Amino acid sequence: MFLFWSFLPRPLSVCVQSLPRVLHFLLSFREMTTTREGTCCAEMAMVCLTDFEEYAKEHLSKATWDYYAAGADECCTRDDNLLAYKRIRLRPRILRDVSVSDTRTTVQGTEISFPVGIAPTAFHCLAWHEGEMATARATEAVNTCYITSTYSTCSVEEIAAAAPNGYRWFQLYVYRDRKLSESIIHRVEALGYKALVLTVDVPYTGKRRNDIRNQFKLPPHLKVKNFDGVFQEAAGPAGEEYGVPANTLDPSISWKDVYWLQSLTRLPIIIKGILTKEDAELAVEHGVQGIIVSNHGGRQLDGGPATIDALSEIVDTVQGRIEVYLDGGVRTGSDVLKAVALGAKCVFIGRPAVWGLAYKGEEGLKEVLHILNDEFRLSMALSGCRNVAEINRNLIQFSKL
Ligand SMILES: Cc1cc2nc3c(=O)[nH]c(=O)nc-3n(C[C@H](O)[C@H](O)[C@H](O)COP(=O)(O)O)c2cc1C
Repeated sequence: MFLFWSFLPRPLSVCVQSLPRVLHFLLSFREMTTTREGTCCAEMAMVCLTDFEEYAKEHLSKATWDYYAAGADECCTRDDNLLAYKRIRLRPRILRDVSVSDTRTTVQGTEISFPVGIAPTAFHCLAWHEGEMATARATEAVNTCYITSTYSTCSVEEIAAAAPNGYRWFQLYVYRDRKLSESIIHRVEALGYKALVLTVDVPYTGKRRNDIRNQFKLPPHLKVKNFDGVFQEAAGPAGEEYGVPANTLDPSISWKDVYWLQSLTRLPIIIKGILTKEDAELAVEHGVQGIIVSNHGGRQLDGGPATIDALSEIVDTVQGRIEVYLDGGVRTGSDVLKAVALGAKCVFIGRPAVWGLAYKGEEGLKEVLHILNDEFRLSMALSGCRNVAEINRNLIQFSKL
């Protein structure tokens, strides 16, 4: 109403002539300003992944939002993960009959619907009451790979039962208590998880300022379900950190532990958290089956490279001997296209999956994946690629990098 009266100082005749336009403006203004809870009930269209981010920011508690959004220290690496994609330009090809397109690919020999999977992120029950069970159902429905976090708020058994035909890998940390690591490896192997993803960038937890300010803690009704009962005893002088005693992870982990893991399991081992060609070469020499180029979404070392910037040197070193994947900052279909063009076999999304859960659980995550798939298909077609095999480095304008 205030806006309407503010039109009145103009001469009345002009106002009368403009009435239809004014009414149209007011109606569109009403639509534009309607929120999900608003009296007008016009649903906000979810068009891109940042729409889900905004929804999650608005609807999650501050401590939960801060936990998901956190980066280490000044968040330079977290933010650069996204900005680095915006510096890359494409070299599209034309007149290549893109009337039919195929986004399917394979990871470790298994077909998935497009080269985007779900990175391991902790505590999905903070975003949606069914937590990781909803994630498992969504990824099964979309036919892609879900890397289940050690720090799940549903157990590996519950996750497997929720989506019995889903394609899952299990993300592993190595604990000071090696028996604990051994037992979880045997559990996931028996449950049909298809690979172990060893996260190597957390000898200690990065300094996430807002989590410290908020004194982040899991609410009492949630637990790190995989180790229910194991950590019941008091956390000791070091206190509790993200649902487990602060000194649980083993900072002495080294390359020889890859051999130890290989002695325990026949599952493929994928190392998550490699950012240099030197470590990529060591990974190949130690006989692992894959690498995830990752900086933990910028939550560990601040000042490390954006993952898309680190990708090329690793792909060049590995020379196709094992598969190279990437996570960090993937938010659009053209980000996926750029990563695949630079040699990633598949990318994984972390925070956007949690935003999808916060929006509508299983349905919300499916929507996130469908939007990303549609955008990827469109970017492929607009750059002249009919299938994933046609995406290669010629698509990248290196002179701009
Ligand atoms: C809230 C949150 C929890 C995470 N938990 C884990 C974890 O339990 N294990 C792990 O290996 N990585 C974890 N990560 C890192 C992700 O696997 C991934 O590297 C990162 O989220 C990718 O960046 P993106 O969020 O920009 O997609 C976590 C990331 C976030 C944001």
